[in-house]
Amino acid sequence: MLKLTDVEVVFNPNTPYEVRALRGLSLKVERGDFVTVIGANGAGKSTLFNAIAGTITPTRGTIQLNNRDITRTPEHVRSARIGRVFQNPLLGTCPGLTVHENLALAARRGRRRGLRPGVKRAERSVFADLLAMVGMGLETRLDSDVGLLSGGQRQAITLLMATLADPDMLLLDEHTAALDPNAAAQIIDLTVSLAAERHLTVIMITHSMQQAVSVGSRIVMMNRGELVFEICGGERAAITADDLVRRFRDLARGDELSDRSLLE
Ligand SMILES: Nc1ncnc2c1ncn2[C@@H]1O[C@H](COP(=O)(O)OP(=O)(O)OP(=O)(O)O)[C@@H](O)[C@H]1O
Ligand SMILES: [Mg+2]
Repeated sequence: MLKLTDVEVVFNPNTPYEVRALRGLSLKVERGDFVTVIGANGAGKSTLFNAIAGTITPTRGTIQLNNRDITRTPEHVRSARIGRVFQNPLLGTCPGLTVHENLALAARRGRRRGLRPGVKRAERSVFADLLAMVGMGLETRLDSDVGLLSGGQRQAITLLMATLADPDMLLLDEHTAALDPNAAAQIIDLTVSLAAERHLTVIMITHSMQQAVSVGSRIVMMNRGELVFEICGGERAAITADDLVRRFRDLARGDELSDRSLLE
């Protein structure tokens, strides 16, 4: 479904500021996979997402989605099929629009026409049911401006919006890192239920080893622009957060990497 082959991203090539953010990375993600990506600060995790979403074009290599080469497809074209949620809860929603309006915009993504009033009423009850699933009382806030909601509530709406149009792929870039532990746990639960219910294909970046081992079906560790190990199957089922930190330490030995760069 998603296939990256030998993807290289170099920023500021041939200057003193040259950074090789991805060094020939290859990765295959099958439909319905839920992959967690871990790695130290600067490992290239967000750059990987930027390459998949089309925010940046690789300097080498190819990206295929559903057997089509999308390496040079513009970001706005890809965004109809690729949902993305960032760390900052303020980024995904429009503060001056209501919860209903935000969701309605997301539902109409890629379509040109508005809906008739009868359909709009039906849609309202679909949105209320969706919001009830979040467990934050949002089903009674359909007409509240999103700007009045808490960070956790906004992130829940962003997540619903990113999945409403049934994307081929959902990219989550530390989407719970800016939330308090309670809200973070709620957003992770929502992520897991949405992924299961809608049979989503998800890649989730996290600095939480606990999250990396408790959700998803595969763990990928990145270091210095490369995919350094992958854990799946039986090994994935048995691995603990401490095991992951241990494996990172083995890898980081001799390198100046510290646990803080992995865990924060
Ligand atoms: N637009 C850019 N211009 C120049 N360098 C960049 C750019 N974006 C990222 N980099 C560099 O590429 C490397 C990888 O960055 P990236 O943001 O992908 O890391 P990350 O794994 O997401 O880290 P973090 O865990 O801190 O979010 C870093 O050295 C970063 O400074
Ligand atoms: Mg990042």
